[in-house]
Formats: sequence, C-alpha cells, structure tokens
Amino acid sequence: MKELKIGICGWGNVATGLYRSLNEHAQIISANSGTNISVEVIGARRDNPKCDSGSTKIVRDIFEVSKYDIDVVVELIGGVDTARELILEAIKNKKHVVTANKAVIYHHGDEIFSAARINGVKVLYEAAVCAGTPIVKLLKEELAANNISKISGMLNGTSNFILSNMEEGSEFMSTLELAQQEGYAEPDPTFDIEGMDAAHKIGILSSIAYGTSLPPEEFHVEGITKIEKSDFNHAKDMGYTIKHLAVARINEENIELRAHPALIDLNSHLANLKGVRNGIEINTDLVGKIHIAGSGAGQESTASGLISDLVHLVNTMGSDADSFDQIISNLPLKPFAELAFQYYFYIEAQDIPGVMASITSLLAAKGVGIESILQKEELGGNLVPIILITDIFKDKDSIELQGELLALDSVKKIRSIRIEAE
Ligand code: HSE
Repeated sequence: MKELKIGICGWGNVATGLYRSLNEHAQIISANSGTNISVEVIGARRDNPKCDSGSTKIVRDIFEVSKYDIDVVVELIGGVDTARELILEAIKNKKHVVTANKAVIYHHGDEIFSAARINGVKVLYEAAVCAGTPIVKLLKEELAANNISKISGMLNGTSNFILSNMEEGSEFMSTLELAQQEGYAEPDPTFDIEGMDAAHKIGILSSIAYGTSLPPEEFHVEGITKIEKSDFNHAKDMGYTIKHLAVARINEENIELRAHPALIDLNSHLANLKGVRNGIEINTDLVGKIHIAGSGAGQESTASGLISDLVHLVNTMGSDADSFDQIISNLPLKPFAELAFQYYFYIEAQDIPGVMASITSLLAAKGVGIESILQKEELGGNLVPIILITDIFKDKDSIELQGELLALDSVKKIRSIRIEAE
C-alpha cells in the first residue's frame, strides 16, 4: 500500500468535509488507488466545534504546515492574497498543492503554475471548478486529443439552486438564505448571485481549453439579481427556461468569454438540471457534444474533487504530467458589445391604443426583427406586460434600443435576458 501524507490549511466547512470523507471513505479510496492518505497536520487559526480532529496535530500558524514532513498541502482557507502566499510558500518548500480555491487560481494561476514548474511540484485544482463534478482533469486528460469549440453551462450551484426554486414559485431572498444554510453559497454570496464565482470557473476552464491567461482579460459578467419570478412563466410560454450560463467559445479569430443569465430551450439537457447541480456542455470534434452534470457545491462534492486530485498525485508522482508548458493563446477576446443574440424583452406599458404599434415601429426603425410578441393580462394601474422575442442583433444595439423604448411615454419598465443559441 502506497502512502500519501497531507497537511490541510483551513478548518472550515470544506476542510472538515474533506477530513470526514477521508475517514469515512478510507476503504474505497485505498481500494481504488492502492494508497493510504493520512492527514499529518491541520493548520487552523481556531477550532471548529462541528468537527473533531481526533489526535491529528493542529497548528495555529497555517504557514507552518508546509514545513512538516508531508507530500501535499491542501489549501482550503479561501480568499485570494493569503491563499496565494500560502500556496507559493508550499511550492517553495517543494510540496505539491491541491486547492478548491477558484479565486486564487483565477487571479494568480499563471504565477502559481510557473512557480510550481520551477520547483518541480504540481498544483491541482479539480474542486475549484464545479466541486466534485469532473471537468478539469476531463478537459486536460480524457479530452486531450480534442479541439473544443465551446464550453457552456451552469457553473454556480447557488445560482442554479435559486433560479430553479424561483421557477417553482419560491422567493429569491429565502432561497438564497437556504443556500447559505446548506453551505452552497460563498461566505460573501454576492460572488454567487452577481456572477463572479461562475466567471472565475469559466476563466479557469478557458485557460485549460484555449490557453487564455490567468487572470484573463476582463470579460462580461452579470448575475441573477434582476430576474423576477414572472420571467419564468413568460419564458415558459415561449418554450424557454432561465439559467445562469458561463460560456467560453473559440473560432479562428477570437475567443468569447462571458457569464450572464440566459433563456435556454426548455427541452435542452441543461434546462432540466435543477437545484445545486452544475451542468456543462462541451462541444468537441472527436466525441461530439458531451454533457457533464453533478452537484457543484457543498462539503461532500468538494471533498470528492479534492480526493480525486490526491489520487491523481499518487498516480503521477515522479512524472512531469501537469507541469508541461501550457499553450498560450494569442487570440484576443471578442468585445462583448460585438456579440449578437436573440433577446427576451419584458416591457411594462400603458394599456392604451397604439402602444404595440409604437413599440414595433421603434424596433422596425432600428432594423430589429421580431420573432414573437405577446400581450399578457393587465397588471392593474392600466399597465400590461408585453413579452417580446427578437431576432438576432448586436449587444451594443440592444442597450441603445432599451433606452429608446424606455423613452416612449407609454413604456414604464423594461428588462431583457439574452437567449443562448443551440
Ligand atoms: N458557491 C459555489 C457555488 C460553491 O454555489 O457553486 C462551489 O464553488
């Protein structure tokens, strides 16, 4: 039986989940890997009443951990600056690093991987993207022979949890609180609901698939806070549901990176993934379209992703795998304003003769085609919702169009959601 000695930095939700899973699943892990993984030391600034660390040594200075006789430092403190220092220190002390921290990889990945190459150690981060749902090693290894034209999906479990509960009639705030109680949401949940968490993850996947830098150039990131419960009913009438999508796509001239809410076909694979599940669609040239789905947040799923990296380390110890010089992309990011979408518009307008005509003629004047338009039941106060699905046009023109629609006397409110093409 092989032996892998690890030190854990951090002793919160994720770390205690890893500790428990290593104990409770020790038999299956060693049966599958021929390895006994032992936790030699835990760096914890304070005790965690929710987890008994038994006789495992606890040190209060998390920077001490990498000085112990261990093979791997598992960084689970979260955050960016201290996590970066801790990882660089572990690398300097010739320890491999496993982390679930997407923010530090997104912001400092290039620096960290370069330090790891120089020091002959590996930095693995499967659990940083979609927790235990396999995607990082899948892209790097199983799909290594493929040209990948597009990666798209729901990469934030909290957003999918909130949106799919709103679809069933729940309120935004109460569902967010539930996601926090379940340990899905980040300590600062604005990262989840404003799209940054999904942006971190798609930035990382793009670096693997397309060689974009870490950090990447700035790209369009938008969260789910402007979506209303009624949008789900209107979308459904038109054959769609609403998801938070993160997308990376490549063509011969540029790379597209974005994270925002989108209407997707009600019958698509991604549409049917509810709750905290993440779902990813990968368009490959050799295998066709691949779908991956699984829990993307929470203690247990994250522990599964972390342990997969520990097992991978055991299996590749002594080899240069993971420390090759990554292909660096020379392609620029396509400006978001130049991307073209179909749009869903929710327009609240006065129920007066000619209101539809004034809206449709404004669209016609701007050369924007209409795929469908529906006037819904009056809301009260002589206001009616008008639901519009447009033909494809450029994002920069959409912002201008919404401003002009809002300037009409009869239009009181407008919001829009992009529609993701198949
Ligand atoms: N807050 C994250 C999510 C946790 O909801 O997906 C996993 O990265």
